[in-house]
Amino acid sequence: MCGIVAYIGDKEAFPIVLKGLKRLEYRGYDSAGIALINNEGIANFKQKGKVSFLEEYAEDKDSSGTIGIGHTRWATHGLPNDVNAHPHLSGDGKIALIHNGIIENYDTLREGLKARGHVFHSETDTEVLVHLIEDIKNNEKVSTAEAVRLALNNVIGAYAIVVMSIENPGQLIAARKSSPLVIGIGKSGDFYLASDATPIVEYTNEVVYLDDEEIAIVERNKGLRLYNIQNQEKTPYIQELELQLEALEKGGYEHFMLKEIHEQPRSIRDCFRGRLNVDKGWVGLGGIKDYEQKLANANRIIMVACGTSWHAALVGEYLIEDLTRIPVEVEYASEFRYRNPIISENDVVIAISQSGETADTLAALELAKSKGATILGICNVVGSSISRITDAGSYTHAGPEIGVASTKAFTAQVTVLTLMALAIGHRKGTINESKFRRIISELELIPDKVAEVLRENDHIEHIASIYKDAANALYLGRGNSFPVALEGALKLKEISYIHAEGYPAAEMKHGPIALIDEEMPVYVIATKGTSYEKVVSNIQEVKARKGKIIAVVTKGDTQVKGMADHVIEIPETDEHLVPLLATIPFQLLSYHVAVMRGCNVDQPRNLAKSVTVE
Ligand code: F6R
Repeated sequence: MCGIVAYIGDKEAFPIVLKGLKRLEYRGYDSAGIALINNEGIANFKQKGKVSFLEEYAEDKDSSGTIGIGHTRWATHGLPNDVNAHPHLSGDGKIALIHNGIIENYDTLREGLKARGHVFHSETDTEVLVHLIEDIKNNEKVSTAEAVRLALNNVIGAYAIVVMSIENPGQLIAARKSSPLVIGIGKSGDFYLASDATPIVEYTNEVVYLDDEEIAIVERNKGLRLYNIQNQEKTPYIQELELQLEALEKGGYEHFMLKEIHEQPRSIRDCFRGRLNVDKGWVGLGGIKDYEQKLANANRIIMVACGTSWHAALVGEYLIEDLTRIPVEVEYASEFRYRNPIISENDVVIAISQSGETADTLAALELAKSKGATILGICNVVGSSISRITDAGSYTHAGPEIGVASTKAFTAQVTVLTLMALAIGHRKGTINESKFRRIISELELIPDKVAEVLRENDHIEHIASIYKDAANALYLGRGNSFPVALEGALKLKEISYIHAEGYPAAEMKHGPIALIDEEMPVYVIATKGTSYEKVVSNIQEVKARKGKIIAVVTKGDTQVKGMADHVIEIPETDEHLVPLLATIPFQLLSYHVAVMRGCNVDQPRNLAKSVTVE
């Protein structure tokens, strides 16, 4: 949510910052802006809308300068317009600031500043912060860096900020609390700052991730100094990035979402590489090795997550309860954190998050930690906040996910949860050896089976063309296919703006069945397994009300084929692994519907990928 980028060095800053903003546009696309320091002072370019509008706007203007800060916005305070766009300037125009996060006490601060003569032009909390820095600097007669530190001591809320001042054009000041910030250390005394490593990777692979309440001062050709908010100097911990530049390109696909859907055979394989050995009959997750026993002995496992990651957690609940017999609760992180939950030291709380930055998930973990629970993470983004505050965790290794709608992250999360359930169940003896071996052999085949489902693309595109104009859709599933139904509905609504609901198939009779008429497409997961006959009955109930049935079935199925308007076949697999296959047709279907409806697939309206505000 909001992306920030900054550069200082001896190259032109504008193209570097602009390119960085394009890479971070998935974090918000309400407005974009770049400020530079050059001979004219601070040049500040801001435009409502996408980064490309900013690029066009700046084309015929002087955008020279070797220090610059840029921002792509997901609006929280104030409309998405040019005035509210970042960077924001101090009253005297000498300090420029970009910000990702929310200053919760901005109203009080603004009233105080107004009383001291400050005039505000925007409705944002960010403008208040830059005025506060200016106010402190002028009244306390301190450096800009010290004014930033003192100002942050007065701030309640979340922030990742970068500040530059005309009085010191060789310096950038950066700080974070609850919103991410990474500093890339260039090879020639230059620095690249950003919300995540994607704008940095093409220049350097040496990075420092800021921790909460750390302030960094980077100076051209001088280096990086790090302080905590109490002003004690710290030693920066330099890490090596493993990100590959190609992973950030569309690689010939029309959209990132389509590329990411098609990457799943590889991303699932990468996820279990080194964690699964079928010949030796072994499964292990290195990252949580030291916590396996703790997990096996846990009274309860609580999973906290949001959105698609919450759906993955629901699949995990089925897997873990069935294979380990440990009770599992799945919680919306945003609810968990505010409802005084009962947590004991024998609980293990697992956060699931693609970005590793979701504010509610992070806060839920902090709450669990404060109550003494063991906290683990399942994240995709390496070095993200969640991965750093947890006791231990497992990365999903899906590679960067840039399309706002999550696809490959979901299947990778489910893969990690499957491995986790298998590892604990095996250790506890709650799965017998032959069942264990059968599931791991099947898991190893999943990437090829996903590839087989992807070959159904044209057929799925055809189905999409028939139902693209439906105003509503229902998704039904039972058991571990119920979360797949929820996820299918979420994918459709978020990228094509069609109203869709996911339900446990049997719940239909308790209300939603009233919605069914001949206009209503009903997507059903009707694969072979424990609930098959029950789902068949539910399909009949829909048919009797003239609903249109589009069923995901096991290859070779004839019974549902005889009833449904359309079927999409997926290969047979162990029942525990069905979600990994059944979710793929729904991803493709949503994608095609959205494209046919002319929607912006990779950047759906009102959304942003990394939700760093609650
Ligand atoms: C939906 C989607 C969101 C995210 C949610 C959590 O396609 O992407 O619902 O799943 O915002 O994000 P993470 O997983 O980064 O915590």
